[in-house]
Amino acid sequence: MTTPTDPAAILAAVERIAADTGARLAAAADATAVETVRSEVLGRSGTLTAVLRSLAAVPAAERPAAGTAANQARVALEAAIDDRLAALAAAELDARLGAEALDVTGPGRPARLGHLHPLMTVERDLREIFHGFGFEVFEGPEIESEEMNFELLNIPPDHPSRDLWDTMYVAEPGSVEAGAPRPAEDGTILRTHTSPAQIRAMQVLTPPMRVLTPGRCFRYEAVDASHGFEFFQVEGLVVDRDTSMADLRGMLEEFARAMFGEATRTRFRPGYYPFTEPSVAFDIGCLVCGGPGCPACRRSGWMTILGAGMVHPVVLRNGGLDPDEYQGYAFGMGLERMTLLRHAIPDLRLLMSADLRFLQQFAGGR
Ligand code: PHE
Repeated sequence: MTTPTDPAAILAAVERIAADTGARLAAAADATAVETVRSEVLGRSGTLTAVLRSLAAVPAAERPAAGTAANQARVALEAAIDDRLAALAAAELDARLGAEALDVTGPGRPARLGHLHPLMTVERDLREIFHGFGFEVFEGPEIESEEMNFELLNIPPDHPSRDLWDTMYVAEPGSVEAGAPRPAEDGTILRTHTSPAQIRAMQVLTPPMRVLTPGRCFRYEAVDASHGFEFFQVEGLVVDRDTSMADLRGMLEEFARAMFGEATRTRFRPGYYPFTEPSVAFDIGCLVCGGPGCPACRRSGWMTILGAGMVHPVVLRNGGLDPDEYQGYAFGMGLERMTLLRHAIPDLRLLMSADLRFLQQFAGGR
């Protein structure tokens, strides 16, 4: 644009710029666009700046009128620019608040709560039942010494029953890296049962004691519908001055009724464990057929739920107690088995499958 030098032309140019700028501001969609207008009109080489500069060439007598008009136009445009910026900011805030709006009158969205794994529900129920019998929970470590897991429980190294309890060995430090893994020389293993907690409890508690040890165990097993290499047991131990097999019977019968219902039939059979003498297997009437026999109970009408017995005198002594002064009884059961029985689940592998379609069926707890 050529710069005018006569006052009339200057006034006309100012008016044109003011009108044009007003229209451009109205069309500017955001602050950046407004700033572009500002610099193109009022910046160093802006259109209005050029007009103001050209005032110098206007004869002195006519300069004030033209100058005043041009300056008023500049002030008005600056104000218009600021107004437009403020309006854009307000609109943006409005839009944001609109988007973030929260309808506090709307109905609540229910929170999605998780639930206990069925194994843990059964474990809690067992704790509660035995808590009622005066037991307290006493936990032992999952990584044990062979001595605790076997020797002190009267299972010497060459004892045939060790074959049933073959386990995972913790490797001798460095042997894996060296490409020749071998069992740790200090005999550190993953426990094959919760029974070592019997020794640990006797070593630190003073009779009378009633302890319950729930926990994870490990065995070198081929995994199938009824065996896992990793599973849970719940162990019980009672030591007092004169506990007897009769106490054991009464306690377990009460337990079976609390766990499986008042009408539950029970029976004891002779059993064998190196750490109890005498030893028993404890059965309940088949929960599936109720007696006549079916595939679930292998046609016997009975299901074995745990092993038990009077604590062997050698074991009492290994726990630091005098067998002439104290007697005790112990029992151990598989948590998976209890859970399968309660829910009539056909395959133990489902419990560790982390398949939510399976697990969510137990959302109700029991
Ligand atoms: N520890 C035995 C097992 O793993 C169970 C048991 C515990 C038996 C206590 C008798 C007494 O099978």
